Amino acid sequence: MVGGTGKLGAAIARRLAKAGCKVVIGSRSAESAGKVAGDLGFGLTGAANADAAAMCDIVIVTVPFAAQESTLAEIGPHVAGKIVVDTTVPLVPPKVMRVQLPPEGSAAIRAQRLLGAGVTIVSAFHNVAAHKLATDEDIDCDVLVFGDDKAARAKVVALANQAGLRGLHGGMLANSAAAEALTSLLIFINKTYSVDGAGIRITGKLVEPEP
Ligand SMILES: NC(=O)c1ccc[n+]([C@@H]2O[C@H](COP(=O)([O-])OP(=O)(O)OC[C@H]3O[C@@H](n4cnc5c(N)ncnc54)[C@H](OP(=O)(O)O)[C@@H]3O)[C@@H](O)[C@H]2O)c1
Repeated sequence: MVGGTGKLGAAIARRLAKAGCKVVIGSRSAESAGKVAGDLGFGLTGAANADAAAMCDIVIVTVPFAAQESTLAEIGPHVAGKIVVDTTVPLVPPKVMRVQLPPEGSAAIRAQRLLGAGVTIVSAFHNVAAHKLATDEDIDCDVLVFGDDKAARAKVVALANQAGLRGLHGGMLANSAAAEALTSLLIFINKTYSVDGAGIRITGKLVEPEP
């Protein structure tokens, strides 16, 4: 969990560890990672970001958009052939209620360009509020999962389910722009309607797709 000391990373890590997954918290500081891991419990351990990335088969990146490029450069040498789950929402403070997608089209496509074709990028968790994930309560929000590799995407859908959410295939990586943009709308709705973490739901009776 690269950037796992933060709000989203720590919350996902705790839920996955509680569900029985082996999770390593990553940070720019191994000491901070160890401290956060110890505080979270559930057998979590901590390491420097690059070491955490080297240790894990699936590497989840939870850092602010402004730190995406430097963070991916740091873990790049350790993620060849692996799945990297990018959770980045391209918010540009202070105007976080305005959709401001990067020139690449989305943070997920940017991640793929930065890490190169030898890494399988899947993006997810853009619309779920970290402070809700940090609790054990049910969360009224689906997790849309995007990626060009369907099998890798399915693994991340399963991870979202293990974290107690409903993961749904959202299609190819380019579609990640839709969920990334939605987050600015959700922040606007939170403010306008005094909601404590609005989420999204896909309606209709969904039939599981063929593997
Ligand atoms: N918070 C939410 O509710 C939420 C929901 C959906 C998606 N997201 C997205 O998920 C990502 C993480 O969000 P967050 O709220 O968890 O972020 P955060 O708590 O502000 O930061 C996460 C971690 O990133 C590392 N970091 C911060 N600045 C950095 C820098 N300049 N260079 C390198 N590392 C840096 C820090 O780890 P160390 O200092 O330990 O290295 C920090 O603990 C963002 O892209 C956000 O848009 C957030």
